[in-house]
Amino acid sequence: MNIQELKVTAQRLMAGDKGLLAMDESTSTCNKRFEALGIPQNEEYRRKYRELIVTAPGLENSISGAILFDETIKQSTADGTLFIDILIKKGIIPGIKVDEGAVPMAGFPGEKATEGLDGLRQRLTDYYQRGARFAKWRAVITIDEGIPTDTCIKTNAHLLARYAALCQEAGLVPIVEPEVLMDGTHTLEQCAGVTKKVLHKVFNELYQQRVDLEGMILKPNMVLPGLDCPVQPDTDTIADATINCFLESVPATVPGIAFLSGGQSATLASVRLNAMHVRFDAIMPWALTFSFSRAIQQPALEIWKGNDQHIAEAQKELVYRAACNTTARRGEYRADAETVV
Ligand code: G3H
Repeated sequence: MNIQELKVTAQRLMAGDKGLLAMDESTSTCNKRFEALGIPQNEEYRRKYRELIVTAPGLENSISGAILFDETIKQSTADGTLFIDILIKKGIIPGIKVDEGAVPMAGFPGEKATEGLDGLRQRLTDYYQRGARFAKWRAVITIDEGIPTDTCIKTNAHLLARYAALCQEAGLVPIVEPEVLMDGTHTLEQCAGVTKKVLHKVFNELYQQRVDLEGMILKPNMVLPGLDCPVQPDTDTIADATINCFLESVPATVPGIAFLSGGQSATLASVRLNAMHVRFDAIMPWALTFSFSRAIQQPALEIWKGNDQHIAEAQKELVYRAACNTTARRGEYRADAETVV
C-alpha cells in the first residue's frame, strides 16, 4: 500500500470547492430512470447519456472526481475516445463503483447486505490499470419497525471495511458509503440515532481491518426525517443534526465527507449543504462536499430525454447544478432564484 499516493488522491478529490459526480448507476437503475422519461433502455442510449455528461463543457470547474460504472469505464464517445481518457484530460479523477448491489439479507426480513467481495482484488487491479484512482461501495440501512438490527449494521460495516482494505492495497481511495435510507415515516431524531450508530460501527470495523483513515473518503446520508414523516424540520435544524452527528462519530483524520443526495431534490440538497458550511465551517475538521447523482443529474436528464437536439441544453443544466453545489460548499448558495422543493 502506498499511503502517500492514497492521501494525495483523497486530497485532490476534496480540494477547493469542488465535489464528486456519481454517474455510476447500475444498468437496472439507469434503465429505471430512462423508463420513467420514455428514453430507450439499451446500451447505446446509456452510452449517449454518459457521453453527454463527460463532454459537458466546464464540468471540470466543479467536479474533481467522477464515479463510473463497469459498463461506462469501458465505453467511448461516438468518435472513439474512451470516457475515462476525456475525464483524465479534463483533470477529473475517474472512480469506479465496485459493489455488486445490495441484496436481501438471509434471515433478516426487510434488511440488505451488499455483495461484491468475491474476485474484488483482481477487479481492483484491472480498474487501476484502466486509470481509476478511487472506488465506491454502497451499503444500505433501512429504518422501520424493529430495524435496523445490530446484525445488519455489523455485517454491512464489516463488508465496507474489507472492501476499503482491498482498495487501499490496490492503490485506490475507498469511498465508504453507508446510506441510511430516507424512505419511511421515521423522525429526524431516529435518523440521527441510527446514522451515529452505523458510523461508529463502520469506523470501528475500518480500524479493525487496518484501513488508513487518511486515505479514504466517507460518503454518508444527511441526517433527515423519513420522506413520509409528518414533521419536516427547517434547513438549520437539519444542518445542525447532521454535523453534530458527524462531530460525534467521524474521526478528524478522515480527509473528507462527500454526501449522497438520497432522493432529495437538487435545490434542497444544495440548500442543506450550504447551511452546513455557513454554520460549521469554522469548526469542521474534515472537508465537506457533495457526491451527488440525482441531485446533479436529474434536471439534465429530464431536459435530454434521449433527444440529440437537447444535448447542449442538458449539458448546461448539468454544469449549472454542479456549480450550485460548489457555491454551496463556499456557503454562498442562494436558492431564492429558484423554487426550493
Ligand atoms: O450510491 C449512491 C449514489 O452514489 C448517490 O446517488 O445522490 O442519487 O443518492 P444519489
